[in-house]
Amino acid sequence: MPTTFAHRLIAWYEQNCRDLPWRHTTDPYAIWLSEIILQQTRVEQGMDYYHRFLKRFPTVFDLAQASIDEVMRLWQGLGYYSRARNLHAAAQQIASNGSFPTTYEGIIQLKGVGPYTAAAIASFAYGLPHAVVDGNVYRVLSRYFDISIPIDTTQGKHHFQQLAHSLLPPQRAALFNQAMMDFGATCCTPLSPRCAECPLAEGCLAYAQRIVAQRPVKQKRLQVRTRHFVYIVVVSPTHLLLQQRPAGDIWQGLYQPPLAEFAAPPTAEEVLSLELVSTLLSQPQATFTALAQGIQHRLTHQLLSTDAYLLSVPELSVAPEGYLLVERARIDDYGMPQLVVKLLEKALSR
Ligand code: ADE
Repeated sequence: MPTTFAHRLIAWYEQNCRDLPWRHTTDPYAIWLSEIILQQTRVEQGMDYYHRFLKRFPTVFDLAQASIDEVMRLWQGLGYYSRARNLHAAAQQIASNGSFPTTYEGIIQLKGVGPYTAAAIASFAYGLPHAVVDGNVYRVLSRYFDISIPIDTTQGKHHFQQLAHSLLPPQRAALFNQAMMDFGATCCTPLSPRCAECPLAEGCLAYAQRIVAQRPVKQKRLQVRTRHFVYIVVVSPTHLLLQQRPAGDIWQGLYQPPLAEFAAPPTAEEVLSLELVSTLLSQPQATFTALAQGIQHRLTHQLLSTDAYLLSVPELSVAPEGYLLVERARIDDYGMPQLVVKLLEKALSR
């Protein structure tokens, strides 16, 4: 059974594999970079970032020497910004050790690298027999072998890891791992899987029982918290105010206009009585207009409902405490979440 599965899967891959740039290298640095970018990012979108990072930082030593602000700026738009911070910290770890680790155990010590990424790097760069287990692999294996153990439990993770390992042909680890990922991404997809043309349909236990859509099983439903954000975009003809986001919350270290957060959608009075707003609006010729109401931005565990206002003043010469005074011409130097990039585009084009 294991060999049939691996044989068919690899045969399918050899016919159908996607030509992706990180598949033409065994440089562990480039592979690591691609894997970190591709966590939670579509391949088409990740490709651009992969090329941009490698061009700016051709080696891990170049990345280690860069400032965190530059790394965040290059990462802008990819989301899950802790990935970029970990990438930078890990590059410094590697640089101080003198070279990229060459074993699974060494690789998994790197900041931001878990079992999946360590197995990917170990197999793609060094041909080591470690099976990758990501969302694609959970889906493919839970369907093919009809496994109902929830994938978000310790027992489930352990079970799938062992199963993937038992199926992996040790001499063809890289090929098998790439094949699993591509097969999950393009044939055994979450919605509307292509069972009619699937090379593994014949042995697929979920397909035989018509329960493909019910695999994999998850124990918990994701808890999503709603937060109410109000951005006050404070501008003069030449400057604007920014603040850096604090540690311990989403978008740590990125920049944004002044933000107030509320427990419920705020009223106009609540916004007008914010200290920054009331102080600046007391200046002559200051104006205050609505930019956007109730923009919904979904993160994994949070739903951000955002209002934004434009507060224009004739002149900004000192930043109130906690804010930075930034020249409008220089805002591209500051890494920002995509939601803020869009708001500022709208605000500054007025
Ligand atoms: N997603 C994560 N890693 C990948 C890889 N190496 N190739 C294609 N898609 C991926």
